Amino acid sequence: MSYNLLKGKKGIIFGALDEKSIAWKVAMRAKEEGAEFVLTNAPLAMRMGEINKLAEQCNAQIIPADATSVEDLENLFSKAQEILGGKLDFVLHSIGMSPNIRKGKTYGDLNYDWFMKTLDISALSFHKVMHVAEKQDAMNEWGSIVALSYIAAQRVFPDYTDMSQAKAVLESIARNYGYRLGRSKKIRVNTISQSPTKTTAGTGVGGFDAFYDYADKMSPLGNASAEACADYTITLFSDLTRYVTMQNLMHDGGFSSMGISEDIVEMISK
Ligand SMILES: NC(=O)c1ccc[n+]([C@@H]2O[C@H](COP(=O)([O-])OP(=O)(O)OC[C@H]3O[C@@H](n4cnc5c(N)ncnc54)[C@H](O)[C@@H]3O)[C@@H](O)[C@H]2O)c1
Repeated sequence: MSYNLLKGKKGIIFGALDEKSIAWKVAMRAKEEGAEFVLTNAPLAMRMGEINKLAEQCNAQIIPADATSVEDLENLFSKAQEILGGKLDFVLHSIGMSPNIRKGKTYGDLNYDWFMKTLDISALSFHKVMHVAEKQDAMNEWGSIVALSYIAAQRVFPDYTDMSQAKAVLESIARNYGYRLGRSKKIRVNTISQSPTKTTAGTGVGGFDAFYDYADKMSPLGNASAEACADYTITLFSDLTRYVTMQNLMHDGGFSSMGISEDIVEMISK
């Protein structure tokens, strides 16, 4: 159902890889709610070609950008404003990748060059995005910027290894840039801490199925789906949440408030 929440709003959506991606669902919902936007992803990720389908469905243009490259981001932000015919109202950062996780490295055996890459791709890129947006004065007043996080920023999930630190940095960047952009242009910056979700990035983490089921059994509402995450993101892009900023917002069916649930007790007692 559409509420026209984003009518007349323009934005950039990072990170739609395939139809399971959270960014993909956000793009579909943003279109439904009347937004116009540009899609972007790393040039390598585009080789799969899936994003072209989304672009067609959303009548959106694609501008490739490696989110770790300030030069690529400068090109992206200036072209996006040209294409959309003005400044932006929203940006979604839905980017995460750890070479250490990809190669199955444990926390005690991390490759430090890859650790730096994890931080650059999954956290510093968020700073770079806002840095370029600010330099180009690319956002309208009361704009909204959202990045996706995970509770491993606060709690220990052993297989999440260096991504835990990346998410902690990401959330800190949201607070610090949120202050800066709030003061200068009333732009809000938040992270959404999402339930485990069956996407390429999610299922790449060791033991994913176990912690997906664990979180589902712990949460009174069950795990939040990618579609539900998209709905929540749309509210943060809308004018209905203008005073929400510098927050890490839990979107996890209640998981983060739980100690233990009856379902888990039952499972363990068996
Ligand atoms: N899936 C989960 O369980 C889960 C839970 C909480 C948070 N998140 C977060 O949600 C976000 C989106 O992930 P997803 O689950 O939709 O998986 P996904 O694999 O569909 O999306 C990750 C995206 O990051 C992009 N990316 C990687 N390196 C990049 C670079 N250098 N420049 C630009 N883009 C790059 C990939 O191409 C891909 O589109 C990530 O930040 C992820 O950490 C996911």
